[in-house]
Amino acid sequence: MARKTSLLLLALACCIIASNGKLQLMDEITLPDGHIGDQFGSSIVIRRNVAYIGAPGMIDDSGAVFILERVGPMWDIASTIVPAQSELGGYFGHGIAATDDWLAIGQPNADYYTGVVDMFALTRGGLTWAQAGTLAPSLPRHSFFGYDVDLSGNTLVVGAYGYNSSRGVAMVYDWAGTWTETAVLADSWSGPGDHFGFSVAVEGDVAVVGSWCTAHYGLLCSGSAKVFERHAGCWGMRQVLTPGVPATGGRFGYAVDMVGATIVVSMPGSVTTARGSVTVFTLAGTRWEQAQLLTGAAEGTDPDAFGFSIAVSRSSVVVGAPTEGGMAGALYLFTGQPGAYRMDDKARGPTSEHRAMFGSSVAADGDHVAAWSKSAVEPASVFTYIRK
Ligand SMILES: *[C@@H]1O[C@H](CO)[C@@H](O)[C@H](O)[C@H]1NC(C)=O
Repeated sequence: MARKTSLLLLALACCIIASNGKLQLMDEITLPDGHIGDQFGSSIVIRRNVAYIGAPGMIDDSGAVFILERVGPMWDIASTIVPAQSELGGYFGHGIAATDDWLAIGQPNADYYTGVVDMFALTRGGLTWAQAGTLAPSLPRHSFFGYDVDLSGNTLVVGAYGYNSSRGVAMVYDWAGTWTETAVLADSWSGPGDHFGFSVAVEGDVAVVGSWCTAHYGLLCSGSAKVFERHAGCWGMRQVLTPGVPATGGRFGYAVDMVGATIVVSMPGSVTTARGSVTVFTLAGTRWEQAQLLTGAAEGTDPDAFGFSIAVSRSSVVVGAPTEGGMAGALYLFTGQPGAYRMDDKARGPTSEHRAMFGSSVAADGDHVAAWSKSAVEPASVFTYIRK
């Protein structure tokens, strides 16, 4: 009897998982007056029924961010945000992060590529916003502050990968009536060109900073990701994550993401390293250990750049592979638990255009998935899916 019950439960559990494993295309979102070069979709964040989509190439690279509301399975543009100081060429909307209360938008090319981050307080479930200051640290030109940003609670982490000959740095801000810089995350071993801060993620008191061009025992741009932890208000570097199999040009740390006690780091490879991969790390005691290696299923020998973009949510990892299939691009959906994710579906850019580089950016929240179709010859668009 007991055995029967557990078999039944197992069967039910399988049904539940299976019902979440397929991507169903819902829509292609384009801008009404879209132009080639708008880069509409280069950053996408989904939170429940609201999506934020960056178009940093709009208005002579001044940039804009669109707020979309989901009604049923479809998304509609509800409003547009442009930077308070609309500097031409600031590239507003390249880095975007959102919580229930805050929206952070990077302008990495502002002020001769120094970069600033604009903060917005969100209301009405994330649909309306009010200016909440501009973060402009005293960094030199070409720091690219705001190229990537992440938020968790009242903590913001901003990468500035170009700082000091692209050694890079990342800054931490906390909300205390205003957004105030509270720490500088750096790796004293960073060398010129390492790109520390190119990708950032924060969850509670843990931050991960990608450094995709760090050399590993002479393997150039093998890459690494550094884990920082906050104890009693002080951030310290706790661990350096490296790939299980380092490779020249592997670019481990190109994209990083976190959810709960899971860190996900991508290694998209390069023209010399055909296959990309994504490593899942979970906490074993006080150390982050590799729990799983995710790979694509690319055909042929072309580089696929699997891991160029990633989006981690509670029950899924979505991975973009924008150069798979001769620059057509693909999107992979893995579902399950950290360490036991299973590839459930793969979507190709549903366009006839062969240089779409679909999957150049991806976003996921719950059953909702979105991916950028970058395109070299048409205005860019964002494809939306639901997990069936
Ligand atoms: C740049 O990095 C070098 C080597 O770590 C260091 O000596 C120098 O002080 C740094 N410069 C700045 C402006 O931080």
